[in-house]
Amino acid sequence: MLLLLLLCGALGCGAQGTAPLAFTMLQWTRVSKGSSDFWGNATLGGRLSHLLEGHNVTQVLPLEPPAAWEQRQEVVGNYLTYFSELVWLFNKERPINYTQSLCCRLGCCLFPNGTARSFYEITLNGTAFLTFHVPTATWECRWPGKDPVASFAQRELMKYPETTRDLQYFLNTTCVDILRAQSPETGPCRGRSHAPLALGLSVGVLAVLGMAGGIFLCTGGSC
Ligand SMILES: *[C@@H]1O[C@H](CO)[C@@H](O)[C@H](O)[C@H]1NC(C)=O
Ligand SMILES: *[C@@H]1O[C@H](CO)[C@@H](O)[C@H](O)[C@H]1NC(C)=O
Ligand SMILES: *[C@@H]1O[C@H](CO)[C@@H](O)[C@H](O)[C@H]1NC(C)=O
Ligand SMILES: *[C@@H]1O[C@H](CO)[C@@H](O)[C@H](O)[C@H]1NC(C)=O
Ligand SMILES: *[C@@H]1O[C@H](CO)[C@@H](O)[C@H](O)[C@H]1NC(C)=O
Ligand SMILES: *[C@@H]1O[C@H](CO)[C@@H](O)[C@H](O)[C@H]1NC(C)=O
Repeated sequence: MLLLLLLCGALGCGAQGTAPLAFTMLQWTRVSKGSSDFWGNATLGGRLSHLLEGHNVTQVLPLEPPAAWEQRQEVVGNYLTYFSELVWLFNKERPINYTQSLCCRLGCCLFPNGTARSFYEITLNGTAFLTFHVPTATWECRWPGKDPVASFAQRELMKYPETTRDLQYFLNTTCVDILRAQSPETGPCRGRSHAPLALGLSVGVLAVLGMAGGIFLCTGGSC
């Protein structure tokens, strides 16, 4: 099952001749028999910047001052705990006797010519499931054929315009600003605040929560 997850890392911004500068977050959620496992990492310019193991998120690159980071860490940890409890409750009501693997890949890249591109792709069980279209702030269904789970999850995600707008802002603006701050022209050490970085991590998690809620409700047979 975990092997499927590796598929998620295969797509990239690159493949074109010039190497873009990229910030990429990968997050896996595996739900089996009512218990949830989380794993993920983030890379900035190819270097590991964050690591997610269980409910613990660690910043590997010192992007945020320790006090601010401790707060983000708590927020992310709380979301994940809340998520696990939610899944556990769903499972008690309607046992989920199979395994679901969700993989989220989000971030942005900046090409040497100054053009930026952002992305948020979700796979379920290794198959393209949903993508976020940044210019219109909408979730698009990628699941092959008409699947009630996928369309239900998409509807659930679209219910919260604040979340989709925040996500659009994070991907199109915050993420690209982080990259511009890292690029040689502006220099990496300008004392710029990276606070929005972890905010993005939280937003990503929040979006997954909304969706996962939908998926589990739906696979439980209520949609
Ligand atoms: C992040 O995780 C992916 C998938 O396991 C892995 O291929 C990649 O090497 C990791 N990145 C770093 C910098 O450790
Ligand atoms: C997460 O952090 C807590 C406390 O900081 C620690 O006890 C626990 O072992 C950590 N878990 C993992 C998987 O690193
Ligand atoms: C899962 O549960 C359903 C109904 O509760 C049952 O029909 C099915 O055989 C179960 N599958 C497995 C693999 O246990
Ligand atoms: C994901 O795969 C598991 C078996 O590995 C299957 O039981 C489950 O229904 C799949 N989920 C979807 C939405 O297809
Ligand atoms: C900038 O470079 C990227 C990748 O090479 C390319 O896709 C894009 O069209 C270019 N944009 C402009 C405005 O030249
Ligand atoms: C995304 O960012 C670009 C450049 O900063 C801006 O021109 C564009 O209006 C933004 N789009 C959205 C949907 O926010």
